Formats: sequence, C-alpha cells, structure tokens
Amino acid sequence: MKILVATEKAFAPVAIKLIREVTDAAGHELVLLENYKNVSELLAVAADADAMIVRSDLVTAEVLDAAKKLKIVVRAGAGYDNLDLAACTAHNVVAMNTPGQNSNAVAELAFEMMLFQARSGFSGKSGSELRGKTIGIHAFGNVGKYVADIAKGFGMKVYAFDPFVSAEEIAKNGVTPCATVEELYTASQYISLHMPANDKTKKSIGYDLLKKMPENAVLVNTARKEVINEEALLKIYEERKDFAYLSDVEPDCKAIFEEKYKGKFIFTAKKMGAQTEEANINSGVAAARQIADYFATGSEKFKVNK
Ligand code: 3PG
Repeated sequence: MKILVATEKAFAPVAIKLIREVTDAAGHELVLLENYKNVSELLAVAADADAMIVRSDLVTAEVLDAAKKLKIVVRAGAGYDNLDLAACTAHNVVAMNTPGQNSNAVAELAFEMMLFQARSGFSGKSGSELRGKTIGIHAFGNVGKYVADIAKGFGMKVYAFDPFVSAEEIAKNGVTPCATVEELYTASQYISLHMPANDKTKKSIGYDLLKKMPENAVLVNTARKEVINEEALLKIYEERKDFAYLSDVEPDCKAIFEEKYKGKFIFTAKKMGAQTEEANINSGVAAARQIADYFATGSEKFKVNK
C-alpha cells in the first residue's frame, strides 16, 4: 500500500525516519509531501495514496475526491477539526486521530508562554512569579492533565472545569474541581484553554467569562483560535490594562493588537504546540502504526467518523 505523509508543517526528520521503519516493516511504501504550499500539490500526490498521515492539513471533500484509492486518513495529533468527517464517511474513508501523543508538548508551550510573559518578555523589566498564583484549566483532557502536573510543580493553585469530566476524576488528579465555568474564571488569574474546536465551543470564550477573571488576568490559548470571541477579547483589552492574551497562533484581529497593544500579548506565527521532536515522533509513529494495523487486522481503534 502507498502511505502518504502530507504535512504543510513538516515533522522533524527523526520522526520521518521512525515512521519509515514502521511502514517498511509492514511492507508498505512511504511517500512524502512536506512543506507543500498549495492544495494542488496535495491533490496531485494524493491521487494514488491508499493511506494518508496529516497534521493540521485540511482534508476536504475536494481532497477526498482526488484521493480515489484512499482507505484511511490519520490525523497525527489530537484535534481533528481539519478533517471533513462527513465527507470521509461518504468516501468510505476511515478517519482517525492519535489522542495524547503530543499533549505534553502542548502543555509545555502553555508554560513557556506564561513564563515569557511573567518575566516581561526577558526585557530586563521586573516581572512576576508563578508560585502561589491561581490557574484554571478549561477542559481537562490529555493536555489539561499535563498542564495540571506542571502547574503543581510550579506551586500554583490549580482549578479545572470540564463539562465531560466528573469532579471526582478532576480531584483524583490533585486539582480543585469547579462546579461551573463561571466559577473557574472567577477563581483563576491564569486560564489555560484545552477544548476542541466544534460547533459548541467556537467563539465560546466571550466577554462575560473574561471579565470575571481576577487582576492581572492571563488567558493562554494553546487550543484553537476559533474558540475565542475576538470582538469580546478586544473589548476586554479596551477596558482592562491588566489583561494579557497568549495564543499559539495569531488571531484574525492580530493587526489591531499590533497597532494598539504592543508588548501585551504573545502570538506564535505558526502553530507551535506540538512542534517538538518528541511529539512528532510519538504522533507520527502512532499514526503509522494505526495504519499498518488497519491494513493488517482491520483495527479501527481511534476511528473518529461514523
Ligand atoms: C493537535 O490538535 O494535535 C495540535 O493542535 C497539533 O497540531 P499540529 O500537528 O498542526 O502541530
């Protein structure tokens, strides 16, 4: 079978080497399309692929139409909002993700941004410490749990809220559960977002929640830019001089931030959360193994479409 790695943001070379070991051992051919700039490149190479490994690359109906032989696509990572699941099902393509494999990298990035901001961007100006501060983890999945562990190491007071995780489960992780999302935002100087982007969560972080955050509030977004209501965020920035937004990717309203709030935000130019060798290896190799298993045994573990 022909397995295509199609990544607009390439894996580390060591991850490709290890992915190749898996596909070679299973007797499949590995084809690489890395750092591509146009969908047309993907459409051309996808034409004879039996399987595809992608990252945040968009797998649309157009891509699936072009990939006539495709049987399985694995998103090497957690969030699969880039896969058109209905179109995958309509094209008889199994869609999977690799949950948990890049979570630590994302959690570490949240702290890297928090530390950079707390120390005034390493500018020489005096800053502040994380010890003793409060952090609220909004959505307590794989990344949220790593964030909790790191926060405890820093001596922070850790709260969490997740509509799908029980208070008992949160407490078992040594974290104080909040009964409502409002309670979480009221309690936490730092808020770290870890929910997926879907119809329920898009634009869900709005004015009423953000205005509840205590003094020197810091909103850390290593989830998806789409979960933020950007108009509300700008309104908060207008009203509060003490608010900071740290985001793994630039918001759509980046130009306004650059014009009005220089030095009061951090935006990565390209999504960096999962961009470590370790995360690339873990998620890339997991994806390759899932594909090899699917062809060998029909295993549909981690399938996300119906
Ligand atoms: C994920 O959902 O796994 C992360 O956002 C990582 O995305 P990336 O593979 O594009 O870096």
